[in-house]
Amino acid sequence: MKQFLLFILIVFLGSCSSNNASTSINAFIKNADSALKYSVEAFSQAKTNDLVSPRTAENNSIVMVKPQDWTSGFFPGELWIMYELTGNDYWKAKATDFTLPLENEKWNGKTHDMGFKMFCSYGKAWKNTNEQAYQSILIQSAKTLATRFNPTVGCIRSWDHNADKWDYPVIIDNMMNLELLFWAARETGNQLYRNIAITHAETTMKNHFRDDYSCYHVVDYNPANGEVENKNTHQGYSHESAWSRGQAWALYGYAMVFRETGMKKFLLHAEKIAAYFLNHPNLPEHKIPYWDFDAPQLPNEPYDASAGAIAASALYELSTLSANGDLYQKAADQMLKTLLSPDFLADTKNNHGFLLKHSTGSKPHQSEIDVPLVYADYYLLEAIQRKIKLSE
Ligand code: GLY
Repeated sequence: MKQFLLFILIVFLGSCSSNNASTSINAFIKNADSALKYSVEAFSQAKTNDLVSPRTAENNSIVMVKPQDWTSGFFPGELWIMYELTGNDYWKAKATDFTLPLENEKWNGKTHDMGFKMFCSYGKAWKNTNEQAYQSILIQSAKTLATRFNPTVGCIRSWDHNADKWDYPVIIDNMMNLELLFWAARETGNQLYRNIAITHAETTMKNHFRDDYSCYHVVDYNPANGEVENKNTHQGYSHESAWSRGQAWALYGYAMVFRETGMKKFLLHAEKIAAYFLNHPNLPEHKIPYWDFDAPQLPNEPYDASAGAIAASALYELSTLSANGDLYQKAADQMLKTLLSPDFLADTKNNHGFLLKHSTGSKPHQSEIDVPLVYADYYLLEAIQRKIKLSE
């Protein structure tokens, strides 16, 4: 608790010199303990043997998911972040409760989502406890993820579904799963994991991006010869549009790959993606994007708070790596200020246990439009944690 109060003080002091994102963070932090304890209660009640993590809310109730769902690691991740911020064992115990049901995912080679599921949950469990059991689970997870890499394509295959539509689909989101591989290379000394991650990032840099540094959602490859067959979308407005969360995954992904490799080309790429995002004429002044930068009825389109939260967290990271640090920090401060305003931040009691309102999962599928989404909350907390570290 002492550590928690210290953080409040640090941020408060920081607010004297920066803009009032810090003031919003202070207010949020004062409330976070009770807000997230309510979430823990609500989600624990909704939990069953099969349905282990919260994803969203629909028809006035919480939607819980199986460990296989790509979002299953985010709530445990939030609880580990609360433990890191407070040092309070309550959060460690609850984080552990929500982490352990995911263990079998270490064998799940049917999707690329291993990093989302396991690095957000077990990755933080390991970081906070150093327990060898967690390390072994993560190493097996990396091993399983690596089985989806095809050296001819130079990418990890993302999805197996829609086999009639795609031969070897790689989605921009996949950049996020590389962090697990960099970690595994360091832990095991096996450079294969690192080489796969770098090759995937290079291939994606070459094929996923347009001249203006916006990116496609899905690039489909011929797995026999590695040629690009199609570039299209799944969750965006159109094949040529810029799906907001995809741009945010790209930004976060390349900042992280630069942090892990120190290879300048990845920094330059992350900076270009940031410029596309931040200078876009359709980005509102408050800096939380609509669900697609090219959505047809702007400004009468739903927001995607998750894209804003991911981008904010990415920009704080990028601010520590780039000569444009001030610019990125200011933009991220604005994003946080908006997300922490009543326009986006809810009372968890009135939002089915979630922190943020106004995210969009997949508008083309008429799915999860203008709803709370657990990954928006996760990246919000991560962004706040990064902001606090910058203020120390
Ligand atoms: N990774 C899936 C999504 O962003 O919706």
